Amino acid sequence: MSTFPWKYELSDHSCSIYAGDLLNKYTNVSGTPLQIEAVTDTTLRIHARTLESFAVEQRPKLTGTLTAVSPSDDLPQEKTACDAALRTAFTGTASSDASQNNQSLLTFATKALQISLDDELHLQICSLGGTPLCSDYTGKLQEAESLTEEEIEQMREEGHVVHAGDDACRFQITKSLYGDEVFYGLGDKTGFLNKMGYDYTMWNTDNPDPHVENPTFKALYKSIPFFITLRKDCVYGIFFDNHYKTSFDMGYSSTDYYSIGAADGELDYYFIYGDTIADVIKNYTALTGRCPLPQLWTLGYHQSRWGYSSQQEVLELAENFINNDLPCDVIHMDIDYMDNYKVFTVDKNKFPDLSGLSNTLQDKGIRLVTIIDPGTKVEKGYHMYDEGVCNHYFAQTPEGDIYENVVWPGDSVFPDYTSSTVRNWWGSQTKLLVDQGISGIWNDMNEPASFRGPLPENVVFPGDDIPRLHKEVHNVYGHLMAKATYEGLKETSGKRPFVITRACYSGSQKYSTAWTGDNQSIWTHLKMSIPQLLNLGMSGMPFVGTDIGGFGSNTTPELLCRWIQASCFAPLFRNHCAKFSRCQEPWQFDRQTLDIYRTYLKLRYRFIPYLYDLFYEESQTGMPIIRPLVMHYQNDPEVYECNDEYLVGDRILVAPVTDQGAHVRPVYLPEGIWVDYWTKERIEGGKYILQDAPLDICPIYIKAGSIIPTWPQLNHIPDGGAKELILEYYTSDAPAEYCHYQDNGTDFSYENGEYNIYHFHIDSDGHLTTSMDHQGYDHLYDAVRLSAH
Ligand code: GLC
Repeated sequence: MSTFPWKYELSDHSCSIYAGDLLNKYTNVSGTPLQIEAVTDTTLRIHARTLESFAVEQRPKLTGTLTAVSPSDDLPQEKTACDAALRTAFTGTASSDASQNNQSLLTFATKALQISLDDELHLQICSLGGTPLCSDYTGKLQEAESLTEEEIEQMREEGHVVHAGDDACRFQITKSLYGDEVFYGLGDKTGFLNKMGYDYTMWNTDNPDPHVENPTFKALYKSIPFFITLRKDCVYGIFFDNHYKTSFDMGYSSTDYYSIGAADGELDYYFIYGDTIADVIKNYTALTGRCPLPQLWTLGYHQSRWGYSSQQEVLELAENFINNDLPCDVIHMDIDYMDNYKVFTVDKNKFPDLSGLSNTLQDKGIRLVTIIDPGTKVEKGYHMYDEGVCNHYFAQTPEGDIYENVVWPGDSVFPDYTSSTVRNWWGSQTKLLVDQGISGIWNDMNEPASFRGPLPENVVFPGDDIPRLHKEVHNVYGHLMAKATYEGLKETSGKRPFVITRACYSGSQKYSTAWTGDNQSIWTHLKMSIPQLLNLGMSGMPFVGTDIGGFGSNTTPELLCRWIQASCFAPLFRNHCAKFSRCQEPWQFDRQTLDIYRTYLKLRYRFIPYLYDLFYEESQTGMPIIRPLVMHYQNDPEVYECNDEYLVGDRILVAPVTDQGAHVRPVYLPEGIWVDYWTKERIEGGKYILQDAPLDICPIYIKAGSIIPTWPQLNHIPDGGAKELILEYYTSDAPAEYCHYQDNGTDFSYENGEYNIYHFHIDSDGHLTTSMDHQGYDHLYDAVRLSAH
């Protein structure tokens, strides 16, 4: 069986770089084992086409770009064929862009970068001025700490988590640290915003333990092998496009270097340079794709719980929202709605008329989303199982039998989403739910999670033509499931698909929103949710959220209040909890909790047009919706490690309280004038303030000079949005500008020009003028009102 070389869906995440005039603009090394391609002037692709010749077993002399990790005994000293071939190719094909200097240093340049490679394949990337930006490390590597089997066993017996040999790499790249680096990104990993000094593993992992901090939790549900390096005078990103198990040692083993290794697959990574973090994200999402415009209602409030077990219960839940004057657009139905946890079935005893229920709810302004897991119950006579078996749609053992493990339905089999036929089959099943009025699908357990031990590495995914092993497919399994669901929903509903996924790989943003999986109702998880969502955004996944209130264990009224406040601008805005935990709908506690909860739901609903504008911006540029302060104040080192504040777009700053009992907190306000959202007090930034924050107050500030589009108060989001727009204007002496996007909020007609872009201008006397930058959607606002503060 061939496992190499396999480039999963080249067109999926790389198509954009091969489009149009970017194609091979500067291909300086071709036909050689190592290829450096300038995709654009600022994005380089470094790709070893024939990695087998670099494999550890072959022991070539590779100490830099490709470092043999083990065994570490003598590597042959003679020059390898690839070195020679490389030089030949450089001198042969490089024309004026590349040269070979006296020290056998090969160099070429783009309009932004100088690239050089020595005869041991050490790569150095410099600015045009010659400042090193990113260089292969040429010094000695730290020996890994070694423990005897006996020591490991002893430590494990005492309950310690010992990572011994779990992360064995077949190859790695090692880059010098200059001492001024701050790292962001890497998806949903635990811990703080800055990843410097930690090490992580990319291996999609379902671990319900209370994950808080690396080093215990190296891996979580998502594998997004992309990070951004901020240095004093430059920013760059590295996208390590390898979906086998990979490891990222971000200066954990040594303060001299950081390294990235992979268990298998190809060496294939992108160096992405920019002036700003925003540039790097823009270029990364140009490679991997952006989150398309969502349906408007998906930006509203979502209520969920594992355990809503009957039609009556769901109806009463909706009525409770309405009777308590609580905005709500979506109710999620967890596995309880299915017949014996069989995907694409409905338990007719508990939900005798799902269509009737969805219609009734939609009349009240509330939609239903249902969960779908990949694990398919083994049961003869069940259509999914029978069709899948008959057509060989499931993963197999190496002997060719269908592979079984255990998930919610008991004995289960796993669809092979690497096959386009299987994806189409799976996607077409969404019709069963769409026809019953279901508005979106929540994909869970797609790491894939399994209860009878993990899937062995050699489980086979037959695919369309080339079979792949589990070790190769694991990190893209959830991604491909989300793709199948997105494409299925697009076909069966004709609307912009709403998909949520737990497992992801780079590029999943094209198909799905994501949540951070099974957190707990603990204050440390509330605190961690901020850097986690911000890093996901900087990793190209903008439409994300946490389980508000916490999934596992029991929330408290105070924790719930602080969580809804901290999340009030989270792109995905969903309260969800586990079956055996305390109920945490807003009315489950006291009057004060209900009132506070309502205040923040209502606040969120007023800002929906601003959030939607940010989604439009994201679809054009990849800019996340919520952003760390460093994205807009890159020259202010005070914000590089700001873990407990975030910006919504570039003009709202939120500083949630994340400590039990705290009624005051320090807030750092970057340069400029900031207006306290609640009191309208104007505060000069560039300093810390001590902010009072009683339980009903989440500190929020608006940058003076901002125009922010809002809606009148609504409890449900109508298709096409509200009829009236209120421009909240936070005055300043200078004129203000704002572009606002509007369309029908449901389907793809915007792709045919059916949208409006309003251009608002407020002059220094406070007069508003409006022009249209684009007019293609008939339903203009009935009124646009200015409200100045
Ligand atoms: C997983 C999900 C959780 C869901 C549960 C039952 O633990 O992460 O959100 O409620 O399964 O389906």
